[in-house]
Amino acid sequence: MRKIFSTGIIFSLILFAGLTQIPNQVSSGEPFGGPEDVKFSEQLWKAMTDARLVGNRSITAMPYTGSVHKTILITLDSTVHIGGRTGLVIVKKMYQGPDISIDKVINDPTKNLKIVAVMFKREKGYDPDNKDWFYTKFDPDGTPQKNKKGKLITGRAGKCIGCHQSAPGDDYVYSYDR
Ligand code: HEC
Repeated sequence: MRKIFSTGIIFSLILFAGLTQIPNQVSSGEPFGGPEDVKFSEQLWKAMTDARLVGNRSITAMPYTGSVHKTILITLDSTVHIGGRTGLVIVKKMYQGPDISIDKVINDPTKNLKIVAVMFKREKGYDPDNKDWFYTKFDPDGTPQKNKKGKLITGRAGKCIGCHQSAPGDDYVYSYDR
């Protein structure tokens, strides 16, 4: 009787261990810059273009001076659909140039755009330790930018996570609390 009982426990433990492995499968492989991340970043860019959050037909918002030196920012957020997933996307457009100003960005929100930094809330289990955000640092044409080591900055990008985990409200978002 006891034997059956303990076999049962061991079996359940194995089963439990197996089940808890499932979320990890989603986040297997490289944390960022791999083929799956690049593919997802392409889908994300398309969804953002359709939602008019990026591209020449993009809606716009009031620019403001960011914390980064000599950078004017426009931040937009919305919900987009990607391959059956629906998630919050936050887009931070970064404008830079010798004498960049809020007026210049208002007059032409496509000019002087240097970086489109994006956070997309992925499915549960994508990055359970860090609130499941997918990060990408895009060029204005939708190509992920590279880090100093030549790796594409898209996915669970350590540098983005490292800073965003200090955002107030423990939601990894600085601009507001969700
Ligand atoms: C050194 C700290 C730091 C790093 C590294 C960093 N961010 Fe941020 N991020 C901020 C701060 C601070 C804000 C608030 C807006 C501002 O003033 O720039 C912000 C805002 C944002 C926002 C708007 C949503 C929010 O949290 O307010 C997005 C999207 C974003 N960052 C994406 C990224 C991506 C993608 C990366 C990696 C390529 C990244 N960030 C790396 C500090 C950082």
